[in-house]
Amino acid sequence: MRQVSSDHWTAKDVPDQHGRVTVITGGSGGLGLETARVLVANRATVVLAGRNQAKLAAAGAELRRAQPDAAVETVELDLASLESIRRAATELAGRFATLDLLINNAGLMFPPYGLTKDGYELQFGTNHLGHFALTGLLMPQLLAAPGSRVVTVSSNGHRAGRMNFADLNSARHYHRAAAYGRSKLANLMFTYELQRRLAAAKASTIALAAHPGTARTELTRHMSGLSNAAMGPRFRAVNSWLVQDAAMGALPILRAATDPAAIGGTYYGPDGFLQLTGYPIVVTSSGRSQNRQAQRRLWVESEQLTGITYPV
Ligand SMILES: NC(=O)c1ccc[n+]([C@@H]2O[C@H](COP(=O)([O-])OP(=O)(O)OC[C@H]3O[C@@H](n4cnc5c(N)ncnc54)[C@H](OP(=O)(O)O)[C@@H]3O)[C@@H](O)[C@H]2O)c1
Repeated sequence: MRQVSSDHWTAKDVPDQHGRVTVITGGSGGLGLETARVLVANRATVVLAGRNQAKLAAAGAELRRAQPDAAVETVELDLASLESIRRAATELAGRFATLDLLINNAGLMFPPYGLTKDGYELQFGTNHLGHFALTGLLMPQLLAAPGSRVVTVSSNGHRAGRMNFADLNSARHYHRAAAYGRSKLANLMFTYELQRRLAAAKASTIALAAHPGTARTELTRHMSGLSNAAMGPRFRAVNSWLVQDAAMGALPILRAATDPAAIGGTYYGPDGFLQLTGYPIVVTSSGRSQNRQAQRRLWVESEQLTGITYPV
């Protein structure tokens, strides 16, 4: 489904970010690092949040090498552990009184069945519950920054997602693609419900979502070698209609994060065939993602599962 597009929006359209403090989950690689690269180039202060200290240090060093005056920090964050999320949020609140931008980007796809430290299915627990908890804990700092934004990264895969409330954690039946789809559907439902709550509270903070289409990153690490190779750069000549580089995949995230014309509740994705590749435009999400009753129910379930409630 090709959407109506205006002129192409590119990284050159990112306005000056000087003075804006940004936290990016999964910032040490893939789309998170590409997003960070553009934000620091536009003078934002960027905090890379990730679970692997060595990767965080390497990513920070890479950004500083490219730009010696880059304002880059790191914070340790394992989204599969509520204890780690609380520790990271406390650390961030100690460093920054206000946060202008939280990019909920980290994610994993199709792992074998596994559980978070708190006993939730790994994809739903990390991709959705982890970000639900982190955002809730950082809400005071976000609300304190005028015009702040929460951008959550979803996927075309949300279309296959079903919110089975009787078995959110796939305890009865685990299908790795179904669990990924559910987690990405949850990312969108969370965004829409959060936006409604922020608007009702008359907060200037807005919530938006974005998806990268299909981008070459390490996300496919749990897929077969054959699938990885088929999507990889060696076959660029034949797969370029299907897969794009991470820098292009980061553009919808960057647009949601920085376009002055963006409004709360908007979802950005690529403008190409089936939203797989292309430049970022406003796209629509599945009807299921827009079910308000289900959004409210997911919110309540997420509060219960994480023990975290929001001030809005
Ligand atoms: N690439 C695509 O085609 C595509 C398509 C649709 C949606 N997306 C979405 O885009 C987002 C970014 O993915 P990517 O493509 O950049 O994949 P990636 O290269 O695998 O990066 C994912 C990042 O998430 C981090 N992460 C995973 N589990 C974590 C945890 N428990 N705690 C903290 N960080 C964790 C990873 O850290 P480690 O390095 O430590 O594992 C990594 O930094 C994901 O939400 C994904 O669902 C990607």
